[in-house]
Amino acid sequence: MVPSPKTVRKAVFPVGGLGTRFLPATKAQPKEMLPVVDKPLVHYAVEEARAAGIEQFIFVTGRGKAAIADHFDVSYELKHQLSTRSKEAEVIEDWLPDPGQVCFTRQQEPLGLGHAVWCARHLVGDEPFAVLLADDLMLGEPPCMRQMVDAYSRVGGNLVCVENVAPAFTSRYGILDVAGEDGRLVRARGIVEKPKPSRAPSTLGVVGRYILHPGIFNVLENVERGTGGEIQLTDGLLAMTGTVPFHGLRCDARRFDCGDKAGFVVANVAVALEREDIRDYVREQLEALIGAPRSTRKAAG
Ligand code: UTP
Repeated sequence: MVPSPKTVRKAVFPVGGLGTRFLPATKAQPKEMLPVVDKPLVHYAVEEARAAGIEQFIFVTGRGKAAIADHFDVSYELKHQLSTRSKEAEVIEDWLPDPGQVCFTRQQEPLGLGHAVWCARHLVGDEPFAVLLADDLMLGEPPCMRQMVDAYSRVGGNLVCVENVAPAFTSRYGILDVAGEDGRLVRARGIVEKPKPSRAPSTLGVVGRYILHPGIFNVLENVERGTGGEIQLTDGLLAMTGTVPFHGLRCDARRFDCGDKAGFVVANVAVALEREDIRDYVREQLEALIGAPRSTRKAAG
């Protein structure tokens, strides 16, 4: 069946970055495999994509990222050892994508997010596709990418997930130049990569979810290297402004910036407080830690 021009079937997961902000934890393991409670970040992202109707999961990896491919494969050793304990067997493979639904390509050199996305061009082909950055953990219902796909079916073009950022932090994000707003949807006339607060056209920062028009591949092929010698996705989006619709969507979801140590710790606490099996104990320990005078703080129990 030929997909409608606004059907999103494929998702790209750029996981080729070095994760330097998380060293030494990321020296020998991918940042995207860091667990929030008991699931790796990239696993949450794949679940979110699947809930949005995505059928093909494309990982753009790099050196030292083999654990990601193993995670989305059958583990014969574990399966063998757990075969009689069905609850754990469920945990290791009930969620596995079907054979052939997952594919991998290598970025070879971490030359930026735009470059990572461009590396997926042959696997995506000529159709719109989602991009999910696993280190932005998005918790919402319906899941964030589902909200994006629904909005995309109305607007097409390029759609980015946005949130209001503190004015002092505009220099950490791609910031939208807003042309108009319609509820959660924002029409953009441009985007600026990491502007100083005084130069930011708004405080709407792009976070790690995108649905992109396949025309972005040609554009990325030709954009100049930007900040830090990297090929920025923002530059590709800017170059396409005016050629296809460009919107931001304020998703109804809570974002945890797990590429940052503090954000990662907060994500673990937030998810733990939602888990029935551990939340009471975690809450009790947190209250003890926070409630105790600074000099006498120690784990309760
Ligand atoms: P980040 O900039 O947060 O990741 O990119 P990083 O470069 O790995 O982290 P630090 O700053 O050194 O700590 C967001 C996502 O894009 C991927 C990363 O793997 C991460 O999932 N990425 C980034 C690539 O796939 N390739 C790149 O060249 C850069």
